[in-house]
Amino acid sequence: MFSFGTVFTFALLLIPPTEAVDSSYVAAVYEHNLILNPDPRVPLSRLEALQHLQKNLDIFEVQAARAAQQGAQIIVFPEDGLHGFNFSRTSISAYLETVPDPEQESWNPCLEPLRHNNTEVLQQLSCMARRNNLYLVANMADLQPCSVSAAPSSCPPDGRWQFNTNVVFRSDGLLVARYHKYNLYFEAAFDAPPEPEIVTFDTPFAGKFGLITCFDILFQEPTVILVEKGVRQIIFPAAWMNQLPLLDIIQFQRAFSLGANVTLLAANIRNDQLIMTGSGIYTPFSATYHHAQKGDPEEGRLLVARVPVLDPEWLGHNAASSEAAAVDESPGYCYSDTCLDSPASTAPVFVSSMMYDPFTFALLNATDGEMRVCNGTFCCYLQYRWVEETGRSELYALGAFDGTHTVNGRYAVQVCALVRCAGSDASSCGQEVDEAESKLDFMLEGKFASRHVYPSVLSSGMVLEQPERVEAAADGRVSLKHSSVMGGLVTACLYGRMYHLDTA
Ligand SMILES: *[C@@H]1O[C@H](CO)[C@@H](O)[C@H](O)[C@H]1NC(C)=O
Ligand SMILES: *[C@@H]1O[C@H](CO)[C@@H](O)[C@H](O)[C@H]1NC(C)=O
Ligand SMILES: *[C@@H]1O[C@H](CO)[C@@H](O)[C@H](O)[C@H]1NC(C)=O
Ligand SMILES: *[C@@H]1O[C@H](CO)[C@@H](O)[C@H](O)[C@H]1NC(C)=O
Ligand SMILES: *[C@@H]1O[C@H](CO)[C@@H](O)[C@H](O)[C@H]1NC(C)=O
Repeated sequence: MFSFGTVFTFALLLIPPTEAVDSSYVAAVYEHNLILNPDPRVPLSRLEALQHLQKNLDIFEVQAARAAQQGAQIIVFPEDGLHGFNFSRTSISAYLETVPDPEQESWNPCLEPLRHNNTEVLQQLSCMARRNNLYLVANMADLQPCSVSAAPSSCPPDGRWQFNTNVVFRSDGLLVARYHKYNLYFEAAFDAPPEPEIVTFDTPFAGKFGLITCFDILFQEPTVILVEKGVRQIIFPAAWMNQLPLLDIIQFQRAFSLGANVTLLAANIRNDQLIMTGSGIYTPFSATYHHAQKGDPEEGRLLVARVPVLDPEWLGHNAASSEAAAVDESPGYCYSDTCLDSPASTAPVFVSSMMYDPFTFALLNATDGEMRVCNGTFCCYLQYRWVEETGRSELYALGAFDGTHTVNGRYAVQVCALVRCAGSDASSCGQEVDEAESKLDFMLEGKFASRHVYPSVLSSGMVLEQPERVEAAADGRVSLKHSSVMGGLVTACLYGRMYHLDTA
């Protein structure tokens, strides 16, 4: 059934066919097995850097053409997909190009290659968009000179900014957007821009898209700012190292698209050594995604899907632009206050580390039941029932965590998670596991001190399930009900981000 590396599309578009003709578009994302510079810490000449970049550009060219043949109107390539990783501030020098600000200057690098020197990558990407007649999003390394003396200045001492940068080309090759990544993740070669940049671009086929990069997806700036401005289509190039049980990237891609009620065009790198895979085209109603499995050949993967336009302005709707959670505002699954306040509370708890955070856990100890686990005043409630034909040989636990994650990034969360424990001992709860046989019906609920709660259900073999029902109440309660599990349950999660408690 779950053949390795297959693309799963688990829901059809919930739009009337007549409307679909003119209010949908075809998007493509490419998961790229990039050709790395074997020695990224050694500075190269420009010629050597271009020879390396060309190997990845050649692959992009082939994939852009394949996407165009399948009708794609936009294609997204992953972060670091051309140059790679692990450069120092100096050793990346030969890879840098100065990307002009498209707000200041209208430039089609393919048609006017001589306007700016040292722009071979920009020229090729521009021609690639033009040749294939599609919008093209790629990630590259940008050098912006700045003045150290013009006080007050956050210009680095060497007089230049080096930015991790998304560039967007129109289908005729015009450079239409440039976004500098704000939330860097251990990237010695790059600077964060002094202020977060809120960057969008318009398309004739789907209206507005917003740009973020990789680690940005976990933070308020710029991601939630874009969503709160009414941007409903987000482009997400990433080079994301997966971490189960909660942050394999396909889990968070699915969860973010649902929780923020947006479309996410997500392109990740494929690199087995760095645990990078997981790309997709997600809408609140559908997901077309790819996640490689152990033993799969280490190769790229093009995904193409037709999806509905969500931009309200393009659709001619009233552009009221408050952030919408893709969840029903309702009293919640528990129509009284009984669930979270229920006496189903006194499960014996233990603390176990999940992704470096001390979760408070309790084991599911029966074939069905209800239970509550709290971390301080933050409580998670679970109703569950094992589906008959699957035995109870696997151990599951309900975990709650309220606090600040501090390892490899700092961010405040409230999380309710139902996890399969990796072994038969309670101390294995919270460890990585990606397979399970147990099918459970469940309702997971928490009362969050944030409106930003991202729901996901992951089943055996890295298969995402569309939560059957997610509801949010005005008092912060969010419930996730799922009673038609397709595969063994690996993780069900309500991931609450407490952006307001983040400290630098
Ligand atoms: C990057 O550097 C780290 C630590 O030096 C190393 O573990 C990792 O393998 C390197 N990755 C690449 C792609 O070179
Ligand atoms: C590009 O470089 C050449 C040779 O160094 C120089 O003559 C020319 O003025 C430069 N062009 C621009 C636009 O900077
Ligand atoms: C999500 O967006 C759709 C329109 O794209 C809207 O109809 C729906 O009400 C939104 N969901 C919520 C919970 O606001
Ligand atoms: C299971 O745990 C609940 C508390 O969550 C407790 O009330 C119940 O007695 C336990 N059942 C068994 C069979 O241990
Ligand atoms: C959550 O649990 C951890 C581990 O037991 C504990 O250190 C922390 O203080 C708890 N948080 C709250 C808010 O009580």
